[in-house]
Amino acid sequence: MSNTQESKIQAEYITKCSELIREKYTQAPSFFIQNAGCQMNSLQTETVAGIMKQIGYQVVDKEEAADVVIYNTCTVRENANQKIYGHLGHLKSIKKHKPEMKIVLFGCMMQEPEVIDKIQKDYGFVDLVFGTHNFHKFPELFFRSLNTNGQIIDIWKESDEIVEGMPADRKYSFKTGVNIMYGCNNFCSYCIVPYVRGREKSREPEDILREIKDLVADGVTEVMLLGQNVNSYGKTLEHPVTFASLLQQIEQIEGLRRIRFMTSHPKDLSDELIEVMAKSNKICHHLHLPMQSGSSRILKIMNRRYDKEKYLELVSKIRQAIPDISLTTDIIVGFPGETEEDFQDTLDVVNQVGFDTAFTFIYSKRTGTPAARMENQIPGDVVKDRFDRLLALVQEKGREASSRFLGTVQEILVEEESKEKGIYTGRTQYNLLVHFPGCKDLIGKYVKVKLDTCKGFYYFGSLAE
Ligand code: 5AD
Ligand code: SF4
Repeated sequence: MSNTQESKIQAEYITKCSELIREKYTQAPSFFIQNAGCQMNSLQTETVAGIMKQIGYQVVDKEEAADVVIYNTCTVRENANQKIYGHLGHLKSIKKHKPEMKIVLFGCMMQEPEVIDKIQKDYGFVDLVFGTHNFHKFPELFFRSLNTNGQIIDIWKESDEIVEGMPADRKYSFKTGVNIMYGCNNFCSYCIVPYVRGREKSREPEDILREIKDLVADGVTEVMLLGQNVNSYGKTLEHPVTFASLLQQIEQIEGLRRIRFMTSHPKDLSDELIEVMAKSNKICHHLHLPMQSGSSRILKIMNRRYDKEKYLELVSKIRQAIPDISLTTDIIVGFPGETEEDFQDTLDVVNQVGFDTAFTFIYSKRTGTPAARMENQIPGDVVKDRFDRLLALVQEKGREASSRFLGTVQEILVEEESKEKGIYTGRTQYNLLVHFPGCKDLIGKYVKVKLDTCKGFYYFGSLAE
């Protein structure tokens, strides 16, 4: 079935759901939605929220007050799963007094067979469960759920289908994420993503361009192109396209001012991309380049297909072409078999590169991945000690890197009022947060601010014009 046909079918289900709830309720019913995990999940959360609003639900910010509670789940690390079970325990007691309440679970965690077994066995009060491959069927599944009191579980193992044109409830009117591809083919040995998100599938460039043009017509000026490994975008298309050439086409869109993207796998980052970034005046000078470990030995066992030297060479090549680039990364501590020497290599790379920000994670054993079967898992206290040392260095280097902007004037896109009244928040192209005294009218606008005080990972500034 073509994806336009499929999106039409789903649109009809949205209408059917609206008719049903109009019969059932005199006042608009409510939903609560919570997101976990990466930015791709956030986008799907916005889509589900958009559909719920189209159906006629209004959003509330407490589970207790909602007719429908929806969790979009992540499973990259075990603690995300534990949190969901915790929430479900809480919902069970609410639902005792409110049996009409519907509970919906979807996302990556639902692609794990053990999770589904557990939900069937211990969480019979959950109403609807679906996964990542049939996400586009949400209106249809929700309609079925509205018509039954039984539990519906629908999980697909794979799907080739990419359904376009689902409604979304964007958090900001002026910036948004755009998926350019789904899935991952890399099988890093610690990572569960290829198992729960399936094989790499790229959207057609025309579909992406059309979506961005529509978004720009609707007021968006900044887009974040999303994929697990954007550098291999387009390789599996019938007419292959490189990521760099997609970027060049996106850059032509009039009215679009900033282009971001993530995540880049170091093994696939091409010279062509560096060149395109260096020439562009829309692509932000920020690269998220997960290194995971600084030890060549560990990187090999992680199946990352680069080593410490290659990573450092890549960084210096990027810096040569784009001297003001901001670099951020992900690092895992305590991968099976990691020795103190391996860990010292990680510290060494952090020292040499000076990342603006590094997201540090304690290795989490994910059932089904090769690393989970490795024998030499590292004791918790050793990992914790390494994690603390890494974090201290990452913060010190982050402060150093951010301080390079002190006293400069930067353009920021103003996002919102901060927690403090009258103080607004925006981001530079380097993704650096700036707080400054401003007014509501500036939200969604680009303004120049002088960066007066460096507060570590953010700045306090003042309007420069
Ligand atoms: N344990 C800890 N961190 C992990 N990541 C992925 N899998 C695991 C795991 N099993 C981290 C990687 C990745 C980020 C999104 O999550 O650093 O880049
Ligand atoms: Fe996981 Fe590696 Fe794919 Fe990233 S590139 S999603 S870490 S398997």
